[in-house]
Amino acid sequence: MKKNTFIMIFIALITNTVCFAVDIQEGKKAFETDCVKCHDSSLFDKPNNQKNVKDLKSLKKQVKQCATASGASWFEEDEENVVAYLNETFYKFKN
Ligand code: HEC
Repeated sequence: MKKNTFIMIFIALITNTVCFAVDIQEGKKAFETDCVKCHDSSLFDKPNNQKNVKDLKSLKKQVKQCATASGASWFEEDEENVVAYLNETFYKFKN
């Protein structure tokens, strides 16, 4: 039993490393599922200088805070996908 658990964890670690890649489509889906309760993506349509978030670091922070506020139980991977989706689509920060 113990050995099985060990092997399962080992496989989970390997597949996670190999398969993990930021997925913008998944980010879009996650946003449309869990994030539109309070605001939709029109919040991001205004010019960057009228937005609160000014760089990639604060975008990550904001997404984390909003994800907690939404009550969705997101993994770090979901947050990264949504950050990538929002950045590619709206903010276009380089760093
Ligand atoms: C409980 C309500 C609530 C939920 C759910 C929510 N947000 Fe927010 N969010 C807010 C509020 C309030 C603001 C500030 C609005 C403003 O600046 O006009 C905000 C602002 C933001 C901003 C910053 C916009 C800017 O001005 O640059 C981002 C990015 C963001 N939310 C992402 C998300 C993401 C991603 C999710 C899904 C996990 C989400 N939000 C879900 C309430 C929420």
